[in-house]
Amino acid sequence: MMGPQQTFSRALVVIMAILLIIILMPTARVSAAPNYRVPAHYSGEAQKLADPTYGPIPGQSDHYNYYWGIERPFPGNITDPIFPTENGPPAPNDYTWQNLLSAEWVIFEFYQQGVETFTDEDFIKAGLPNNTRRRLMEIRNNEAGHLRIFQNQISPRSIKPGPCKYKFPLDDPIKYLAFMTVLEISSMVFLTGLVQQPELNVHKSAMVAIAATEARHETWALLDIWKENPFGGPTDTMFPYANQILYTTNAIIVPGSCPPENPEYPRPHQRLPFLSAAKDTKSLAPGSVVRLNFTDPNNQPHFHPGIQYYAVFFHGLLNISMPIDTKHWPKKDIAITIPPEFETKGVIVALVANTPGAPTFDTVVAGPAVILNQPVHLGPALL
Ligand SMILES: *[C@@H]1O[C@H](CO)[C@@H](O)[C@H](O)[C@H]1NC(C)=O
Ligand SMILES: *[C@@H]1O[C@H](CO)[C@@H](O)[C@H](O)[C@H]1NC(C)=O
Ligand SMILES: *[C@@H]1O[C@H](CO)[C@@H](O)[C@H](O)[C@H]1NC(C)=O
Ligand SMILES: *[C@@H]1O[C@H](CO)[C@@H](O)[C@H](O)[C@H]1NC(C)=O
Repeated sequence: MMGPQQTFSRALVVIMAILLIIILMPTARVSAAPNYRVPAHYSGEAQKLADPTYGPIPGQSDHYNYYWGIERPFPGNITDPIFPTENGPPAPNDYTWQNLLSAEWVIFEFYQQGVETFTDEDFIKAGLPNNTRRRLMEIRNNEAGHLRIFQNQISPRSIKPGPCKYKFPLDDPIKYLAFMTVLEISSMVFLTGLVQQPELNVHKSAMVAIAATEARHETWALLDIWKENPFGGPTDTMFPYANQILYTTNAIIVPGSCPPENPEYPRPHQRLPFLSAAKDTKSLAPGSVVRLNFTDPNNQPHFHPGIQYYAVFFHGLLNISMPIDTKHWPKKDIAITIPPEFETKGVIVALVANTPGAPTFDTVVAGPAVILNQPVHLGPALL
């Protein structure tokens, strides 16, 4: 027979044992080897990049400024995904930085391939300044710095995605530079939305600093390439749904070309139908009437007969909604008027929503599309 004293000391032993297990558990988890494996089809070279101090450090090394090689700058020359080196749940902002790293690969590859494809003479023959290619190299180097910064912002518990293959307009220097303007200005717009995602203020500030870098690139292009006024109005365009803009870049990714281990891009996404203006569009300037084209035949919008849809245009800090007629689509095209109220500066973001002002991300049913106002003649040329 056990007395109350014995029962108590037995219970104490059990409690102590449980406590000991609880205390030891986290330690055991940290010291265990990570349960990932670098797949055999990778060399393992990229794992060196898991150490943020490996290679040139952005902000310290002029590699990210004045590297004049044609070969890919670090870390763009190491293209395998970087696998986690610690076990555990992802850090709170890992998805956001993974999205940004995947997007940065698009931008870095765009500059790298331009540097590889065009010569100084190609740009000079197109009537552009003789330092055009050198500036593009500098921008490429800055973008390589962004790759490294974003890799380092992702915690060691999450994979750091590698590049895919992309379709860029590389057959003509002017078309190439027009595309550059769209990429730079789109990245400025999407950063205004992305900055709402991080929990840490220091991450928000880092994104503002990156957006300012893209603005400098764009300012150079406006002044030296397009011989335009460099300013974009009192404020650039604010757009809250960053992942919707990121998703549109899937149109330039070669299907099936991404490392299979990459996380979905962007995460999360709504798979909204791509939106563009019809091919015969003459002008996208405020006041123009434009017919819409949902360019992916495999992903067309579904308009319900009882619902009034709107074209919603974002410019500066404002948005303007116009009701659209979807009743006879697709037999009859949907025509919209770009709000004449807007100044002819910067960009306009356009989308189709089921609510005026598209107040939440899930009211958006197609798009967005980025409409370039500066230089205004480039807008329709890009479609
Ligand atoms: C990548 O570039 C860096 C800096 O130029 C260089 O030190 C490194 O050897 C390169 N690595 C590979 C795998 O090409
Ligand atoms: C490049 O252009 C600048 C300004 O037009 C000119 O001063 C310079 O001599 C040119 N350099 C070469 C190498 O052609
Ligand atoms: C709509 O986009 C598709 C895909 O880019 C294109 O083939 C088609 O010609 C476009 N239609 C119009 C009217 O612009
Ligand atoms: C568009 O503007 C309206 C009115 O100012 C606002 O309520 C709405 O939230 C705005 N939409 C977005 C996506 O910011």
